[in-house]
Amino acid sequence: MESQDRRPPTGIKVVIVGAGFAGLCAAIECDRKGHSVTLLEKVKEMKPLGDLISFGSNTGPVFERWGNVMETLEPLLYKSPGINYFEWNGPYVTRQNWHAEKNWGRSISGHRGEIHLVVLRYALARGIDIRFGQNVTGYFETEDAAGVVSNEVRITGDIVLAAECVKSPGRKIVLGFDDPPKPSGYAVYRAWYDSQRLADNDLTKHLVINGDTHSGWIGRDCHFLATSLKNGKDFSWVMTHKDNANIDEDWQFPGKVEDVLDELSGWDPVVHALVKATPPDCLVDYKLVFRDPLPTFVSKRGRIALIGDAAHPFLPTSIQGASQAIEDGVTIAVCLEKAGRDSVVEALRTYEAIRYERVHRIQMTGVTTREQWHKADWDAIRKNPESLHIKREAWMLNFDCEAHAYDVYDATAAKLQQATSVSATEDVKDFSDFEISATPIATQKPVEVQ
Ligand SMILES: Cc1cc2nc3c(=O)[nH]c(=O)nc-3n(C[C@H](O)[C@H](O)[C@H](O)COP(=O)(O)OP(=O)(O)OC[C@H]3O[C@@H](n4cnc5c(N)ncnc54)[C@H](O)[C@@H]3O)c2cc1C
Ligand SMILES: *[C@@H]1O[C@H](CO)[C@@H](O)[C@H](O)[C@H]1NC(C)=O
Repeated sequence: MESQDRRPPTGIKVVIVGAGFAGLCAAIECDRKGHSVTLLEKVKEMKPLGDLISFGSNTGPVFERWGNVMETLEPLLYKSPGINYFEWNGPYVTRQNWHAEKNWGRSISGHRGEIHLVVLRYALARGIDIRFGQNVTGYFETEDAAGVVSNEVRITGDIVLAAECVKSPGRKIVLGFDDPPKPSGYAVYRAWYDSQRLADNDLTKHLVINGDTHSGWIGRDCHFLATSLKNGKDFSWVMTHKDNANIDEDWQFPGKVEDVLDELSGWDPVVHALVKATPPDCLVDYKLVFRDPLPTFVSKRGRIALIGDAAHPFLPTSIQGASQAIEDGVTIAVCLEKAGRDSVVEALRTYEAIRYERVHRIQMTGVTTREQWHKADWDAIRKNPESLHIKREAWMLNFDCEAHAYDVYDATAAKLQQATSVSATEDVKDFSDFEISATPIATQKPVEVQ
């Protein structure tokens, strides 16, 4: 049934490491463009881990192209038309509606594990070769091939896409050095649970008995976002706060309700009720760590590329980490199609050139939004409540990455070609066009991992 949505075979063999959203999307998109895909995932069985994840309207068109994926997701998704903001100790401040961005494309928010499973099933239904229980420990490339060592077996293709997140061994190969995380001074408590206990409490029932709602409480150096989904039946909250512990990043690190309540002393009783209703095994304490933007996403010989969080970890406040992982896969699949099998190196370098500036510009919005909330000038906000609204900008959200990649591929590849020959003669002027962000961003504030 999906076969109409597959271009003729290109003969390009793509090996992908990691079946998170970055790897899965790259696999589906490469399959759509007629490349042949082998996807290697470490875990033996995918469990529906995580809690709330959001894909912006910039990825709506991508999901809509994937068979019946949107239809299947529909009942699972966030449907609140906007968010109410409150001051940390209770007073209502302002409402921000999402109607403007609805015209830009469908946005998708829901449980990470549930959405992931729908996308994984779609990839399997397309017949993509996905192998579980594959622990990739090494990467290699030659002039005409690239591959990985997985469970001590060598698996070779024309290119390798490393999508195994920040602890990626692929990062080391591409960078040529180890890139250890640094503590950021922030962490997030995250929770997802059945909302029945909130429906039974007069303080909180308004958040769950009339369909989906979304609320944010903003304080100094701390914010608390709460969402109900599935017609109010499921509830999710996320609290970003100062944290100086130097602990490893892990999505499964359990948190304690008492610790959260301690941090929230004096906050709105509604917030306290939301935290108290959290079952102990539904609370995650996730440390945010710094990682500097990478100087490049592509290996020296040009056959191994980093995608998703392995290339560019995001802060939760950008609400774009998962969307940017999707844009990577779509862009690479188009680049490979345009380049053809003889020019896969050109394809990966062009992928980097197309993506680099945009992804880093979006990464920075994670810092600006957090600062906008945590360092808010409340006198100014009382005069202009809308200044608390999260920025929803058209350049970021009204964007079809597939159409864009087709539009700019030829010109970008040609410029890269020219820049390479120019730089060979030591005049690197034109090259700045392509590394626009490399220097300025690397010297700006480090970016944190979601
Ligand atoms: C358990 C978990 C829960 C998460 N929960 C949330 C959430 O609630 N909200 C949110 O916004 N974001 C969440 N994220 C992060 C979010 O999924 C990513 O930020 C984003 O989707 C980009 O995805 P990615 O594919 O680059 O990385 P990831 O989603 O981290 O996927 C990386 C994949 O690579 C696999 N892998 C790692 N090492 C190897 C190896 N050596 N060999 C083979 N495979 C390997 C991993 O098992 C994993 O499946 C979660 C991530 C994880 C892993
Ligand atoms: C994967 O390999 C690494 C390196 O040999 C090892 O440390 C790790 O425990 C392995 N993980 C799994 C899930 O087998």
